[in-house]
Amino acid sequence: MEIQLTLNGERTTVEAGTEQDLATVLRQHGHIDVKCGCDGGTCGASKVFVDDEVRMACGMAATEAEGSDVRTVASLGTQDDLHPVQQAFVDNFAVQCGFCIPGMIVEATALLSENPDPTEREVREALEDNVCRCTGYQKPVEAVLDAAGRMREEGVAADGGRSVGAPSRGARSVGCCGGDCDE
Ligand code: FES
Ligand code: FES
Repeated sequence: MEIQLTLNGERTTVEAGTEQDLATVLRQHGHIDVKCGCDGGTCGASKVFVDDEVRMACGMAATEAEGSDVRTVASLGTQDDLHPVQQAFVDNFAVQCGFCIPGMIVEATALLSENPDPTEREVREALEDNVCRCTGYQKPVEAVLDAAGRMREEGVAADGGRSVGAPSRGARSVGCCGGDCDE
């Protein structure tokens, strides 16, 4: 059957079986930035935004996305113009195999849109259902705290645009969490 949705900002029609999950359908249509790790809604690799909510696309029927606004991690930035969260992951060497990173970046972006100044504990809690066996989470957590600091300083909203009422440059920045955890 045909499903109409907005996919990374473009009105799109995709073919999907009634039993197919959204992650599979997105990947079949070339969106391989959506990863599949467990196929069971437990690893976080397949996280996408659906109508601005984080969803595990493997655990959602593709038909449920009819008429929705679906955004994958690729909607956040481009290779030449990365979203601050993506850039912070690069700059903090927060990637090893990289398989879990798209889901982490989706979750981290959602966290920072609700909470621009999270504690280390809040970042860890936000990422706790994003399973990563390579990094021990230290680098990703540092990356998210770094991104939060950059976005506050630069007045960047979580969607990459300008935030409303953003603090001016020179606002407090967050350092590395390798030493003192603030919680
Ligand atoms: S593949 Fe979707 S949560 Fe693991
Ligand atoms: S970087 Fe490999 S699973 Fe997270």
